[in-house]
Amino acid sequence: MAYAALRSIGAYAPKNILTNEDLSKMVDTTDEWITKRTGIKERHIADKDEHTSDLGVEAGKLAIERSGIAKEDIDMIICATISPDYFNMPSTATIISNKLGLPPVTAFDISAACTGFVYILSIAKAFIESGMKKNVLIIGAEKLSAITDYTDRGTCILFGDGAGAAVISATDNKEEAIIDIHTGADGTYADLLMTPNGGTGSPHDSLEQEAGACFMQMKGNETFKVAVRTLTKDVKEILAKNEIESSSIKHFVPHQANYRIIKAVGDALKMKEEQVVVTVAKYGNTSGASIPMAINDIYENGTLKKGELLLLDAFGGGLTWGSALVPFSPIK
Ligand code: UT7
Repeated sequence: MAYAALRSIGAYAPKNILTNEDLSKMVDTTDEWITKRTGIKERHIADKDEHTSDLGVEAGKLAIERSGIAKEDIDMIICATISPDYFNMPSTATIISNKLGLPPVTAFDISAACTGFVYILSIAKAFIESGMKKNVLIIGAEKLSAITDYTDRGTCILFGDGAGAAVISATDNKEEAIIDIHTGADGTYADLLMTPNGGTGSPHDSLEQEAGACFMQMKGNETFKVAVRTLTKDVKEILAKNEIESSSIKHFVPHQANYRIIKAVGDALKMKEEQVVVTVAKYGNTSGASIPMAINDIYENGTLKKGELLLLDAFGGGLTWGSALVPFSPIK
């Protein structure tokens, strides 16, 4: 049986930065409130003509280059996004695939909100272990600024744009292999985080009504509590199942939604500060891109080394959740 290995990571953040100071001129908020309640200082915002696929292409290019695998050998691409270039079709994955000049391989999107990257990691692993695919490019890409209501201070302070990508490849070496991935979902919490309009669940009578229809809405405080509970439970389960102590985790990479959530989960798991990867201050919440962008940060600053164990942990709209135990296994 083939195993699946994380070969490389790449990420991209658009150049424009939206600071807390900028937001305080747009809605009734302050840098102090945002910093204290979320830990976020700034987020990157894509240009008007820069699409989700463009962010994904930049991240994907880096991940392919760093993998040492020729782009002609990529045999599947999956994109996790809740802000696709086009709703319904074509998928953002097919657009990225075309822009990257990949062969005409299997390409599709999935929608699991902030858990998207863990979901596509699990799909890549399953395809590789079954022998159906050998080299899968997975990308979490979001232009959340396009679905954010910049008159709603409860959400607009949180979200940013960006993309993160990884190449997952077949290996015979069990030491290099992704150890385990858990994913789950509970639709009873569907109304906590929604883009309530624009779909068949809320059909519109006229095009005018559709304008601005796809903004995110969130019950922030309830989501916060469910997030801490879910993230903690999920990690405890995957560690127990694999008989791994939290102290053996080199890098705990939780979804970057709010520093207070990250801190509460880290403390509940008795993680030391140096184990927990935190990038929320500079990117905000980039949904499906947040985990690969965070892994890319520790790769680029030299903290992440070959063979080290990553523990990923995400939750998001749906409600979805997922965790993964992943050694970093570059070829070189
Ligand atoms: O990735 C997907 C999942 N999303 C999340 O994980 C987000 C989870 N939730 C959160 O991060 C937090 O709930 C928020 C940061 C969104 C809000 O923080 P909170 O501590 O839960 O505040 P709250 O919603 O309980 O609101 C407290 C007060 C309210 O005022 P009153 O009713 O006490 O007078 C809000 O109106 O803070 C007010 N408020 C603000 N004040 C200044 C809400 N947003 C703001 C704001 N600036 N931006």
